[in-house]
Amino acid sequence: MIDRATVDRILDAVRIEEVVGDFVSLKRHGTNYVGLCPFHQDRNPSLSVSATKGIFKCFSCGESGTAVSFVMKHEHMTYPEALRYLAAKYHIEIQEKEETPEEIAKRMRYDSLLVVSEYAQKFYQDILWNSEPGRAIGLPYFRERQFTDETIRKFGLGYAANRPLTLTSAALEKGYKKEYLVDSGLCVERDNGELADRFYDRVMFPIYSISGRVIAFGGRTLRSDKTVAKYVNSPQSEIYDKSRSLYGLFQAKGAIAKADRCILVEGYADVISMHQSGIENVVASSGTSLTVEQIRLIKRFTTNVILMFDGDAAGVKAALRGTDLILEQGLNVKVVLLPPEDDPDSYAKAHTYDEIQDYISANAADFITFKCEVLAKDMDSDPIRKAGLINDIIRSVSVIPDPIQRSVYADSLASRFEMSVDTILSRIVEMRETKKAQDRLLQRSEYNRNQRGYERQAGGFLTGNGSETPPPSYEEPVFEGEEYPQEGDIASPVSDPGYALTNRRLASNELQILTYLYKFGNEVIQFETRYGEEKKDPVRVDDYIRDSLLYDDIVFDNRLYRELFDEYFKSMRNMTEKGEERQAHILRHFDSAGNAVWLSCISEMLIDQHQLTVKVFREAIEPEVTRLGANVPKSILIYKREITRQQSAAISKQISEAQKAGDRDLEQELAAKLMVMTKVIYAFSKELNML
Ligand code: CTP
Ligand code: MN
Repeated sequence: MIDRATVDRILDAVRIEEVVGDFVSLKRHGTNYVGLCPFHQDRNPSLSVSATKGIFKCFSCGESGTAVSFVMKHEHMTYPEALRYLAAKYHIEIQEKEETPEEIAKRMRYDSLLVVSEYAQKFYQDILWNSEPGRAIGLPYFRERQFTDETIRKFGLGYAANRPLTLTSAALEKGYKKEYLVDSGLCVERDNGELADRFYDRVMFPIYSISGRVIAFGGRTLRSDKTVAKYVNSPQSEIYDKSRSLYGLFQAKGAIAKADRCILVEGYADVISMHQSGIENVVASSGTSLTVEQIRLIKRFTTNVILMFDGDAAGVKAALRGTDLILEQGLNVKVVLLPPEDDPDSYAKAHTYDEIQDYISANAADFITFKCEVLAKDMDSDPIRKAGLINDIIRSVSVIPDPIQRSVYADSLASRFEMSVDTILSRIVEMRETKKAQDRLLQRSEYNRNQRGYERQAGGFLTGNGSETPPPSYEEPVFEGEEYPQEGDIASPVSDPGYALTNRRLASNELQILTYLYKFGNEVIQFETRYGEEKKDPVRVDDYIRDSLLYDDIVFDNRLYRELFDEYFKSMRNMTEKGEERQAHILRHFDSAGNAVWLSCISEMLIDQHQLTVKVFREAIEPEVTRLGANVPKSILIYKREITRQQSAAISKQISEAQKAGDRDLEQELAAKLMVMTKVIYAFSKELNML
């Protein structure tokens, strides 16, 4: 046990942003840092790290704590392990102290499970090499599979024989407790209380943790009899979580980091044979579909994954299943299909190291190419299938977190299918928005369920008020997709015919912009400079909005919003207040302006978003004000794109009219105009995709 003084020294040295930053890429956000939360499938950065308070909190999944609890949770470490980890990181020497009896008991139980597993591994290994049935049955089996002695030892392979050579009797005789033999899954308890081996008459593949402890086994039968299960695997236990382990990772991790890529195969034998051929950066998902946790394990060593599967139909299917999940985690995926008659195991045995490497380099297909080739076979003849395939691939692109990568893929899809990049980009945006909307719905129901729990938790460090615990973010402004508000949803005084809503899509964009104007007009936007861009000067929100509309001679289409826009610059621009006070000032102004329609629109716009829950919510999660630099330009771009879209739709109509009338000159003139507009729309989409 680590003594108190040492603990204090560790905690003093720890800087949470550095600790979290080792696992999550963090971006500065005022005094805080934000990043993608590693504890759930995060698409927008919802993890906030407060450097000054030394705590992290995810506003989506609610996970929160200190640097120590972050390490515990993320690395699946116990408290003392996490402290040791941090001590090592900050070069602090550890003074050990006596443990309490409870601490000893807990650690002993975990260690005992590991110890008994390690004992079992040694036991099976010993049976393999040194017993009569091991030498007569187990070893010949491995040798027939062309595993060398060195390989067999390296992977700790063994043999589980039949009675009388049981693990149960040997382990009990050695004094291993029944409890641990059962809880580690090595033994099963019969109705009469007696123990029996889980594994018998099987060759044994021990499964190691990332740090090389034995945590489970896979036992393969030697019979070809189909009534016998081919593999028996250890059940889940305190030390083994199947969805969080990858077969071979312990042996492969160094090679993965060095090669900066990880080859993913299906089976134990595949890993071992590839390894024996000198290709050591190989792990197996053990026949189940890949999990997010497994992908995150890989991500600790590389961001490049190659799926190497059998060339048969099942292999193709398995490969397709894996790609989207990997892409979604921000990794690059390639796929290598082997010749139909091969699996990685047989291929590795039949070829030299160089041949395998050459095969991989020659055949590793980008996932787009892979999907196209696999799915394209019956595509040309069938337009519906073709559309389905294209959508399928665009969906894969849409889950990629990096916008630049998305647009690179969009370009390549466009040329492959001879489509306009704009069509593809807007489809991507649409799919992302739909996904976001689904996530919001999910989170909302999650939130409703958890609300009581959140209220009880201490927290709210961003508001500086422990009683205001922010619920997760579902209230993100919705910009586009099929989610335009219905007439009744937005402040539309339909009772007054003079203010009738004529163009719903434009109006909803205009309201969004107007809201930024009134709520944040006197805030200053700091632009982020992307690589290769000129630095832009900071600018006030209201000036930015006015100038960027003026630049394209745009005036609001909706009469009410146009009036309120003008009213702002006429009599409200010099307001100095922010936040609540600003809201009060605006309401006072419209209270006395004498226009009921204005007042109802403005108060709906301001108050709606300031109802207590919503307010605490929005501002706590990710203060909207800090996102203005992205959101204001975004709302303007979306608006301009919508205007251009509507104009180009009108031109298309005119073109077909000109065609009908046989006016070739007009038709050509309009077509040229349309082309320019399409390019403009594309440019907007591209820009939006980058924001
Ligand atoms: N698997 C399993 N249970 C089964 C079949 C398969 O757990 N009944 C898992 C094992 O992890 C196996 C992987 O799925 O390694 C791949 O299955 P398969 O290709 O059938 O097994 P191989 O390991 O390739 O076995 P072999 O080459 O000996 O046939
Ligand atoms: Mn196999």
